[in-house]
Amino acid sequence: MKIAVLPGDGIGKEVTAQGVKALKAALDTVPYELTEAPIGGAGYEAAGDPLPPATLDLCRGCDAILHGAAGVPEDEKRPPQRQAGFALLRLRRDLNLFANFRPVFLFPELVGASTLKPEVVEGLDLMILRELNGDIYYGEPRGIETTGSGADAAAERRAFNTMCYTESEVERIGHAAFQAARKRRKQVCSVDKSNVLETSALWREVMIRVGREYPDVELTHLLVDAAAMLLVRNPRQFDVMVMGNLFGDILSDEAAMLTGSIGMLPSSSVGQGKKGLYEPVHGSAPDISGKDVANPLASILSAAMLLRHSFDLEEPASRIERAVRFVLREGYRTPDIFEPGARRVGTREMGERVAQAIRNHIH
Ligand code: NAD
Ligand code: IPM
Ligand code: MN
Repeated sequence: MKIAVLPGDGIGKEVTAQGVKALKAALDTVPYELTEAPIGGAGYEAAGDPLPPATLDLCRGCDAILHGAAGVPEDEKRPPQRQAGFALLRLRRDLNLFANFRPVFLFPELVGASTLKPEVVEGLDLMILRELNGDIYYGEPRGIETTGSGADAAAERRAFNTMCYTESEVERIGHAAFQAARKRRKQVCSVDKSNVLETSALWREVMIRVGREYPDVELTHLLVDAAAMLLVRNPRQFDVMVMGNLFGDILSDEAAMLTGSIGMLPSSSVGQGKKGLYEPVHGSAPDISGKDVANPLASILSAAMLLRHSFDLEEPASRIERAVRFVLREGYRTPDIFEPGARRVGTREMGERVAQAIRNHIH
């Protein structure tokens, strides 16, 4: 079992340290190899490249990757290729990790932590499946050009990106959605903007075609604007929501708040095989980094997804999830999910308490 650990930047480092603690506690009887490497701003500092060749090699040669977050304030001054987040985009594509699962699950203990009313979110359990290798993120052409001549006072710059999907890209994420739904409540809601975009019209057509192979799964469609609204009006109606790269990025941050905090949302990015990249949905949060206040549970829950998907280690994975539940039940909360009467803890203490509960085989 070869696991690459890429803490990245800001709170990525702080929460990944806790994710690693959970991994180590859960793998008490299993041999494994953990190797750490820099990515993002840390990669740029170490090797002049947000995705240093040595980090890419390590990721190609391992079975699973635990990633923190990539992003530094200096990004603003750097060209796109040198920005921290670009490393992640290159890695996802290089490893063909096209299916990004973002489980939106509300721990019953956190019903009061959500900004939504308890009766709206109670019992919430949905899955956002985000396509991760295509869309406007990777479409060509892209760039910024100057129109008109320099001498012309009317000269101005024009920026452009290309939103595109091929049928085969939609087909493979479609199959992933229907297969995931078969293990859940057998409902797929496909999200697009087919009233305006050709990309989305093709997306919808292919989803319907793929859906015919899964007659036991119900397929519905929503336009992305309505989906954003319904996610806060009545989120419990959803089981699997499948969408393109850009819509998935946006709606998953929105959905995170249904669970109390973006610090609660883990993810897995996988391809055809068992290899995967596991990471919190949140970023490097420069506003709170270095203060030991970030919620590490998204990273810890990502570690559980890693064990389950890449190594079929169901027991250690659920041991991590049970430990998280136990610590929440005991009332421990980082500031983002704090409620009056709870016990306020920092990043490290939260991670330590979860690791201890894992070691104690809490049920
Ligand atoms: P962010 O997710 O880092 O932060 C958004 C807000 O949520 C902030 O107020 C932050 O304090 C809070 N927050 C995030 N994670 C939290 C946690 N674990 N506990 C408590 N509060 C938490 O998004 P941003 O500020 O827009 O982006 C910051 C940087 O991170 C940017 O450079 C961005 O590109 C990068 N980013 C990276 C990833 C990734 O590597 N997967 C994901 C998203 C953003
Ligand atoms: C995410 C992030 C990334 C994305 C950024 C950092 C490139 O927001 O993983 O959600 O947009 O995919
Ligand atoms: Mn995002």
